[in-house]
Amino acid sequence: MKQKIEKLEMVNGELSLPGDKSISHRAVMFAALAEGKSEIKNLSSSEDVQSTIKCFREMGAEFEQQNKKLIVHGRGYMKLLPPKNELDCGNSGTTARLISGILAGQKFDSVLTGDKSLSSRPMKRIIDPLTQMGAVISSEVGTLPLSIKGNVELKGIEYNLPVASAQVKSAVLLAGLHAEGKTKVIESTSTRDHTENMLGLPIYKTEKYTEIISAHEYYPKPAEYFIPSDISSAAFFIVLALLQKNSNLTLTNVSLNKSRTGIIELLGQMGAKIEIIEEKKFMNETYGNLFVQSSILKNIKIGKEIIANVIDEIPILAIAGLFAEGNFEIRNADELRKKESDRINSICHNFHLLGLDVEEYDDGFSIRGSIKKSNVIFESFGDHRIAMAFAVLSSLVEGNYYVNNFESVKISNPGFIDQLKSIAG
Ligand code: S3P
Repeated sequence: MKQKIEKLEMVNGELSLPGDKSISHRAVMFAALAEGKSEIKNLSSSEDVQSTIKCFREMGAEFEQQNKKLIVHGRGYMKLLPPKNELDCGNSGTTARLISGILAGQKFDSVLTGDKSLSSRPMKRIIDPLTQMGAVISSEVGTLPLSIKGNVELKGIEYNLPVASAQVKSAVLLAGLHAEGKTKVIESTSTRDHTENMLGLPIYKTEKYTEIISAHEYYPKPAEYFIPSDISSAAFFIVLALLQKNSNLTLTNVSLNKSRTGIIELLGQMGAKIEIIEEKKFMNETYGNLFVQSSILKNIKIGKEIIANVIDEIPILAIAGLFAEGNFEIRNADELRKKESDRINSICHNFHLLGLDVEEYDDGFSIRGSIKKSNVIFESFGDHRIAMAFAVLSSLVEGNYYVNNFESVKISNPGFIDQLKSIAG
């Protein structure tokens, strides 16, 4: 679907966005593993989280929607049922990688599949550590489909994360729940810490690295989850409100987990007026309301250490950078090439369409110049964050702007257009 995006004059009002996608995946998985009834409030409405639910339904967990809550009847330790079909992870890397950690130690064989984009994303990064733990996983070229053998005895390992990835860290920690002895994951670059927070895993932090321990004793129990709104979805509206003139926007109950707030930090350094009002905490996860006002932004040097924290927000950060004083440049972000699309390439392609001077590097890109084209059809590359980033850009400039394959927004935020309309003008 080709979506036309109209220019907006301002944005105003309040948005309560659906629950954080990363936290929602984990809540669904932990509730499905725990023996008995759990409840999840404000679950993400994303198609990705539906992929996780579908996989666990296939293994005997039961889910029912009751008013605004998802009720989950979980299976208990080693009580997942053998799936009758292949487990289809759709477009969701988090589903595929975290579930692999869970499946590695089960009594049954399983096969994981995904859509075209997910089937081209690297899985060797989880196959390697899980194999070290004793898992038997086959994959032709290090991508989906994965065949995971059951009835193997997993053993705890000590694993130094070679790549800054919360999905890899979580896969190993989840396998650790089903392994003999202790599993220790060591990360030298911090990544989002929802798995360890929500499972209450022991964490030891030094200046140089973080160690996280997993073991059978941390297997999840039934719980009542409240999922704060997704900061990665909020980021699009934050940047929109900053760049639109005469705008004031309140975003309620947004996840403010420190491993995710790099975008607020960077925009703040760029001159953004973003106020955090009333911080609250639930299950070790912080959240609060954000008040955003139109601001004049200037580009800054983006340090290497913050990249993992803002990895999902780089497409919209680049839009902020385009409208900020000075030139935007981002480096050390080669992981962007391994997302739902090659995001370095996707962003550069679309900036080229605007007549901007764009330089593409292996690990990033820089933008110079100003917008020269006013009739543009942006390509989403089937990637939700590219679609939303270029929709925000389109709403800021006069002309005829479209985004191709816009339906991909449903991967993280199916309500994006309605939310945009609700705060327009
Ligand atoms: C996620 C981790 C990140 C992020 C993804 C969600 C998670 O991926 O980009 O959107 O929920 O653990 P990587 O682990 O590949 O960095």
